[in-house]
Amino acid sequence: MREILVVDDERGFGEMLRTLLTKEQYAVTYQPDPERALENLATGRFAVVLCDVKMPRLSGQAFLQRSKERGDTTPIIMMSAYGTIDTVLECMKLGAYDYIGKPFKPDELVLVLRKLEEREGLRQENQRLKRELQKTHKLDNMVGRSAPMRKLFEIIQKVADYKSTVLITGESGTGKELVARALHYNSGRAKGPFIAVNCGAIPEQLLESELFGYVKGAFTDARSDKRGLFAEANGGTLFLDEIGELPLPLQVKLLRVIQEEEVRRVGDTKSFKIDVRIVAATIRNLSEEVDGRRFRQDLFYRLNVLPVHIPPLRERPEDIPLLVEHFLKQSSLRLGKKVNQVDPEAMRLLTGYPWPGNVRELENTVERACVFADKDTVTRDVLPDGFVAMTDRVRLTLDSGELSIKKTTRIIENELITRALHATGGNRTVAARLLEISHRALLYKIKEYEIDIPPR
Ligand SMILES: Nc1ncnc2c1ncn2[C@@H]1O[C@H](COP(=O)(O)OP(=O)(O)OP(=O)(O)O)[C@@H](O)[C@H]1O
Ligand SMILES: [Mg+2]
Repeated sequence: MREILVVDDERGFGEMLRTLLTKEQYAVTYQPDPERALENLATGRFAVVLCDVKMPRLSGQAFLQRSKERGDTTPIIMMSAYGTIDTVLECMKLGAYDYIGKPFKPDELVLVLRKLEEREGLRQENQRLKRELQKTHKLDNMVGRSAPMRKLFEIIQKVADYKSTVLITGESGTGKELVARALHYNSGRAKGPFIAVNCGAIPEQLLESELFGYVKGAFTDARSDKRGLFAEANGGTLFLDEIGELPLPLQVKLLRVIQEEEVRRVGDTKSFKIDVRIVAATIRNLSEEVDGRRFRQDLFYRLNVLPVHIPPLRERPEDIPLLVEHFLKQSSLRLGKKVNQVDPEAMRLLTGYPWPGNVRELENTVERACVFADKDTVTRDVLPDGFVAMTDRVRLTLDSGELSIKKTTRIIENELITRALHATGGNRTVAARLLEISHRALLYKIKEYEIDIPPR
C-alpha cells in the first residue's frame, strides 16, 4: 500500500484530499500541524508528501527546508492557491518534487502522483539493477560474468563470514589468491591481518619456525623469541598457498593447530590460543595426493570443509572480454596511456585462445598489448607472435586429450557461431543459414554461450 502524508492547516481541504486519495487506493495520513508532520515524516514510511504552502504556524517553504536539511528523501509536492511564479521557483529550489496550484481537479493530482510513482519505480529498479550488476560482475577486484564465476561470487559472499576452513582449487593463474583475499575482506575479520604464506617456496625446517614461531635457544640460530605467522594472523586470516607442497611432518602439526586452535612454538613447553581463519589453496588434486599417500587424509578432510573450485579460463571464455577491458583500464592507468579499445579481430583471437596460464597470462598479454599499441586500439599485430596460430581453440582442445563430447562440442559450437557472426557482420539470419541451424536455435545458443554480437 502506498502511503501519503497530507499537510494542510485547512481541515476541510485535508479531509477532502483524504477521501479522494483513499478512493484511488492510497493510504492517507492527514496532519494539520506541520511540526507534527515533520515527526511523522521521519518514520520513513511515506511514499510522498502533499504540503500546503500557506500555513500559519510553519510555512510550506520552512517545512520543505527542514525536511531536506535533515536529509529526508521522500518527494514533497507543494500545493498553493496563491502561487506566484516566485513561490513556485522558491519551492523548487528548496527541493520540492513538484508544484500544483489550488484548486486542482482530482485527475490532475492523481496524474502527478502516478507520474511520480512511475519515476520512483524506475529509479528504484535502476538502483537494484546497478547493485545486481556490481554483485554479479564484480567482487572486489574480481570480474567475471560466466555462470561459474557468478556462482563463485555468491559462494564467497556466503561463506566469507564463517570460520570454517576453505580449500581453493584451480590451475595456476586462475585467481586463487584473489579469492582468498576476497574471503578475508568480505568477512568480519576484514580489519584483522591477512597473512599469506607459500608452503612450496620455503624449506621444511624454516617453514616450521615461520609458521609456528620459536623460543630463544630452540636451535642454534634462535637468538631471540620469534612469533610465527599463526600468531601474526591472530584475529585475521592465514592463507596457506600451495598447501599440497606441505611436508608430511608439518601436515601433522598443522592438523593439530587447526583442531585445537592452539599453537606451540618450536622449543616451547606451553601452547597459546589463537583465533585464525585458515584458507588454503592448491593446484593439485588433493584427493589424488591422499590416494598416493603424499597428503594426510585427516588433514584433507579438515581443510576441505568448504571447497571452492575456480575453473580454468578456457572453460569460461565469456569472461574474456570483461577481463580484457578490466586489465586494459589498469594497464592504461599504470602506463599513462589511453588504450581503451580492442578491434574485433584482436578480440576474436583473445577469446579463442585457450590461455594455459589462465588469467595471469591474459593480464600479461593485455599489458604487453597496451605497451605496443600505437593509438587507442589493440589490434592483432600487438598480440604476441605465434599467438594467432595458437588460437585455434578447437584444435587445441582436441590435442589436449579431452574426451568429453559434451565439453568439446560446446567449444566447437561456440567457435563456429562466433566465426559465422563475424563473417556476416553480426547478421543473425545469414549466420544461421551458414551454420545450417534455425534462427531460433542460433538465438538460443548465442544467449547460452553469451556470445557478443559484433557491431555491423
Ligand atoms: N576474476 C579475475 N578478475 C580480475 N583479475 C583476476 C581474476 N582472476 C585472476 N586475476 C588476476 O590474475 C592474476 C593471477 O591471480 P592469482 O595470483 O590470484 O592466481 P593463483 O590462482 O593464485 O595463481 P598461482 O597458482 O600461480 O599462484 C592476479 O594478478 C589476479 O589479480
Ligand atoms: Mg597464487
